Amino acid sequence: MMTFTSLLIQTGLVLITAIAYRIIYNIHFHPLSKFPGPWYCATSSLPLAIISLLKREPKFLLGLARKYADGDNPIRISPTLLLFPKPSSIKYIYQDPRHNTKTGLYGTGMLGPPNIFTVMDGNEHKALRKALGGPQWSFGALKNVWEERVDNLVKLFVSKMTDFAKRNEEVVLCDKVAQFAADVMTLVCFGETWGFVRNSRDERNILQSFRDGLVMFGFGGRWRTFRETVLKTPLGVSLFLPKASDDRGIGFLVGQAGQLVARRERENRMAENGGKEHHDFLQHALEARFKDGNKPLSDLQKLAHVTILVTAGADTTGTAMGSTLNYLLVNKKCLDKVREEIGDADSKGLLSNPIQYEETRMHLPYTVACVKEGGLRLRPPATNLFGRVAGAGGAKICHGDVYVPEGTEMTSNAYVVQRDPEVFGPDPEVFRPERWLESDEQKLSEMEAAMFVFGVGPRVCLGKDIAVFELYKLLPEIVRRFEMDLVREGRYVVSGGVAYNKDLVVKLRLRD
Ligand code: HEM
Repeated sequence: MMTFTSLLIQTGLVLITAIAYRIIYNIHFHPLSKFPGPWYCATSSLPLAIISLLKREPKFLLGLARKYADGDNPIRISPTLLLFPKPSSIKYIYQDPRHNTKTGLYGTGMLGPPNIFTVMDGNEHKALRKALGGPQWSFGALKNVWEERVDNLVKLFVSKMTDFAKRNEEVVLCDKVAQFAADVMTLVCFGETWGFVRNSRDERNILQSFRDGLVMFGFGGRWRTFRETVLKTPLGVSLFLPKASDDRGIGFLVGQAGQLVARRERENRMAENGGKEHHDFLQHALEARFKDGNKPLSDLQKLAHVTILVTAGADTTGTAMGSTLNYLLVNKKCLDKVREEIGDADSKGLLSNPIQYEETRMHLPYTVACVKEGGLRLRPPATNLFGRVAGAGGAKICHGDVYVPEGTEMTSNAYVVQRDPEVFGPDPEVFRPERWLESDEQKLSEMEAAMFVFGVGPRVCLGKDIAVFELYKLLPEIVRRFEMDLVREGRYVVSGGVAYNKDLVVKLRLRD
């Protein structure tokens, strides 16, 4: 009779053989084995998950792009996933409706219930986007409905920073601007600010909770075996997926979103006009209708959408602000130029108090270039593996020069494509806002087309205009009002494909 020990040994041998077979198959016989890349990434998706866990992904991917550079050819970064490092590939992956299914990374449940961002099927997404998108997300609506209230928040921000300046106290500037962005988000999404700026703190721990949740979002999403086995078991769900009862992380945010939906629905039922006075995104979600059958969102869809509003818009925009300021503070000449530009416009009476979005757009081109260069190009706030699955017949990328078989996962990456030397010149790592002003029209449109910071195609960021609107309003106002002495240069941290800044510390002095 077989002893327990020999059973154990035999099971171990079977397991080792199965793993060895899988590794050899993945490296040598898999349909993607012809694509170059590090051998360990071809064996399993675990190495990439570990690299994300160590917060090293952007530099790792950029290193691969430099090492394996070969025209438009992609690099294999997991057994089933190809990274396309050249900007020229973006439109072929993201504009073609045949490849509009998102990869499994999105579908883990780590970002709460399925929402417009995480829903994988292209048709399901189309219906949701039609129901939830609309003019309320555009610059026009932002200027008409929200600018005055954002102005009040800018004024409050300036007065809080003035207090810091008067007390000669150190300020963690990246946190302060992230808190401003969180307040704008809650204002446009829920009709009220939540007191981030007023109380000078991370209210309800929203920002930290989001950052805490990114670690598992990145790790669980990248490691395929984990998401397809562990996360499908009741134990995996209870251990790793966010729950509304959690007191931290994404689960906590789901709980917050649930309370907001319930409260507004209660108010709407009691209001005579059914809540028509609200113009915020929460109200839009409650009134949203699917075109086929005029159906409202289900309760779960409402909760999911509000959760994504809390998670997608707050920290990302704050990161773009913190990054721009960081670059200006370590590049004094650029900061001086911004200051001079604002001073000139001010002396001609072109700027209001506070500065309006349209004024920055029209009269502060150098400031705009700094935002683009530092906050969006060099330190993209969302530099995830935004993967798509090659549809029926496979994908022909770059005029058919590269063919990938049906079912292959394909991704671009903002940190990598936005540093392409062929597009951005021999100094892609350098903060040089001038590149956006001195280039001819053809070069400029090439550079714009290489900007993947907000995504591209039918799933492009829904809050893009909100983010730009805020950036154009707060950043010039800070430079206009304060001298900033750098105490500590900030760090750009990327966790689970999403970035935030840490430790950008300054002392402020009031300008005349
Ligand atoms: C600088 C700030 C921001 C950056 C860099 C950013 C980046 C992105 C990117 C790259 C995507 C597309 C991802 C993909 O292809 O899967 C996306 C989608 C999305 N973003 Fe943003 N975002 C920002 C701000 C915001 C804000 C302020 C909001 C909302 C208030 C928002 C809401 C959304 C939503 C709802 C989606 C999903 C759209 C869809 O799939 O139809 N984002 N964002």
